[in-house]
Amino acid sequence: MSQAPVTAYDSILTLMPYEAGKPIEELTREYGVSDVIKLASNENPWGCSPSVTLAITEQLGQLARYPDDSGYYLKQALADFNDIDVKRITLGSGANDLLNILARTFVGTDDAIVYSQYAFVFYSMLAKMQGATGIEVPAQHFGHDLDAMRQAVADNDNIKIVFIANPNNPTGTQLERDAVREFLASMPSSVLVVLDEAYIEYSPKSNNRALLNEFDNIVIVRTFSKAYGLAGLRVGYALSSAPIAELLDRVRQPFNVNRLAMAAATAALGDQEFVNKVRLSNDEQRRWLGKQFDALGLGFIKSHANFIMVEMQVEMEDATAALVNQALLEQGIIVRPLTNYGLPDWLRITVGLVEENMRLIDTLRSILSDD
Ligand SMILES: Cc1ncc(COP(=O)(O)O)c(C=O)c1O
Repeated sequence: MSQAPVTAYDSILTLMPYEAGKPIEELTREYGVSDVIKLASNENPWGCSPSVTLAITEQLGQLARYPDDSGYYLKQALADFNDIDVKRITLGSGANDLLNILARTFVGTDDAIVYSQYAFVFYSMLAKMQGATGIEVPAQHFGHDLDAMRQAVADNDNIKIVFIANPNNPTGTQLERDAVREFLASMPSSVLVVLDEAYIEYSPKSNNRALLNEFDNIVIVRTFSKAYGLAGLRVGYALSSAPIAELLDRVRQPFNVNRLAMAAATAALGDQEFVNKVRLSNDEQRRWLGKQFDALGLGFIKSHANFIMVEMQVEMEDATAALVNQALLEQGIIVRPLTNYGLPDWLRITVGLVEENMRLIDTLRSILSDD
């Protein structure tokens, strides 16, 4: 009998775990700071619609029962909202669950996935999870270079999925609708284009829902974690052709969206007034933050989402964003370093509430003027 230890897939051995934003409780424990603000995970500082509380409360007596596996009510609500047949909707435990289901459904070890440099890190992780080839296409001005991505597809017969985040995380860049349309029109029908619209509510211009009427090889993935403020519940959805949705349904875990999440998402979707208020407040605060970064002499990328990527040109010894990040942590402020994206000089800062943003700027000013 072999005495060799169990080993993982080769590609799992080089897979780095997803780096989540530091939880508030952890910072409190590690640094003994109270009054922590978290601007690290692109969560919604304005919370969620008040209608969610009632929807969840109504479910509390039913926790011993499995959720409705068909997701009937949430799918109906999403079908109305997106003007699409329910058969074209797949529910997920967050957008990441859907991205994972897509990779498991379409990508095997002989296949390849295409994504952009500086695009959401989970795409490259999925390639490794599937033991597939990940092809990272160099970015252009920190955004997707669709011509180069088109060329990457033309150069490789094994590509199954192209992932495009629009707006993109962590750069906040957005693609013009015509450019996305042109890209899709140039794709072979055997290549699936996944448009990750996790931040769509902050940038209605990025909405490519209409392309679902034109192309069968497109999937749009969305989430309730951002503008809807339900990150803690884990719920998202995908829009696709009916045959693709039917394949995804075979692969998803049974009951992959829990009872509270489905009820909350249905209620949240019904309160578009809340979402509009969130967008307007986010716009206003993002503009304000931009002016403050200008005043501090910090470069940043124009963002179309609820975060801003800021360059830390600090005249410190070993001038790095890591030092600024550390100093912010010591002052009880959590932002996101981007070393794992190959962007060691940048920090991604989630747009917070007025008082959080003011505290961030005051703290940054004092950190930067100290040196
Ligand atoms: C571009 C992008 N896609 C997907 C996700 C995952 O979101 P969810 O919380 O719905 O899994 C995120 C989360 O940060 C994201 O930035």
